[in-house]
Amino acid sequence: MKVFNWKESINEKELNIVASKIKDGELIVFPTETVYGIGTNALEGEACNKIFKAKGRPSDNPLIVHVCSLKMLKKCVNNISQIEEKLINAFMPGPFTLILEKAEKIPLSVTAGLKTVAIRMPNNEIAKKIIEKAGVPIAAPSANESGKPSGTNIEDIKDELGEKVFALIDGGRTEIGLESTVVKVVNGIPKILRPGKITAEDIEKVIGKVNIDEHVLEKVEIEEKVESPGMKHRHYAPKTKCILLDIDDENQKIKEINKLVNQNICFIGFTETGLKLSLLENKLNYLTKTDFYSYGDTLEEISQNIFSLLRKVDKMNYELIVIEGVKPEGLGLAIMNRLLRTCEFNVIRQSENIEK
Ligand code: TXA
Ligand code: MG
Repeated sequence: MKVFNWKESINEKELNIVASKIKDGELIVFPTETVYGIGTNALEGEACNKIFKAKGRPSDNPLIVHVCSLKMLKKCVNNISQIEEKLINAFMPGPFTLILEKAEKIPLSVTAGLKTVAIRMPNNEIAKKIIEKAGVPIAAPSANESGKPSGTNIEDIKDELGEKVFALIDGGRTEIGLESTVVKVVNGIPKILRPGKITAEDIEKVIGKVNIDEHVLEKVEIEEKVESPGMKHRHYAPKTKCILLDIDDENQKIKEINKLVNQNICFIGFTETGLKLSLLENKLNYLTKTDFYSYGDTLEEISQNIFSLLRKVDKMNYELIVIEGVKPEGLGLAIMNRLLRTCEFNVIRQSENIEK
């Protein structure tokens, strides 16, 4: 397994090798500002099939095509509407993916048979340089086994995908840590299919009205028709059973935790507030019996840490991981979208009648 270390700077000699391997349809793991991607030449259908195989990805879940310029973007799609153009100008390059009508040259294996294609222009020096040098768009989903948390650093990805790719490029820990916001314009109004760093409020400021897909915080039933195939599949889930604690009331929180603590459990939550504080204040001494792992203090920190932390805790043989929820506002919507899936919609919610 080759690991190229470009944390400090891009190695030009290795860049030439990587670019030509991509063009030839080999798989490369590379960083973006959101999460790492596992990618290859988006114009080669056969090569793109290898991505599905390496990840164990369901064949009906389409890939994102990464471009480095507006010129390259326009070669991949047809008929950009005015509103789509506005979105492109406002949010690309960045943690933003737009679903557009696909051009003939994008193979159906990339789009899983759909007539639309997901396009993203990453704002990460390494990703930009690789696409530029290769001279072709790169089809790449997140670098992780299908169903697992997305890879945000090379150490987490190596064991899972290392043997299946030509090389892994180490660009350090990714800046954002959650995948891009996926948007499709439906009947002239942008609709968020997957929330991310670019929030509904950000889009509203540029465009006006924006819709959020109803499945963002809801489970999709098997027979349901959805706008984005990825919504249907198991996602972001460790092997260990996880449960989401979506409760504000301190008393109820403690009561619910009381029901769980006989098991070998751990907690993931804010550093000094919320769950940890209520555990300490109530002097239940759970922190000696169980373990507490902080995912940070701000939504930005949580977004950066959560996938890597889940992978770490998953290796520790707990019976249950209890995760503290956040308010589903701003970046919090993206975090809750991922946590609900991490917990496979196993949630303890605030009860209507709070006993005091
Ligand atoms: O930040 C990101 O978006 C990362 C980095 C590597 O760019 N990529 C990523 O890819 O998260 P992936 O494959 O894990 O997620 C792509 C999502 C899936 O939910 C997929 O269903 C959706 O985008 N998607 C792709 N093409 C689509 C299409 N034509 N219509 C609707 N949804 C689509
Ligand atoms: Mg993914």
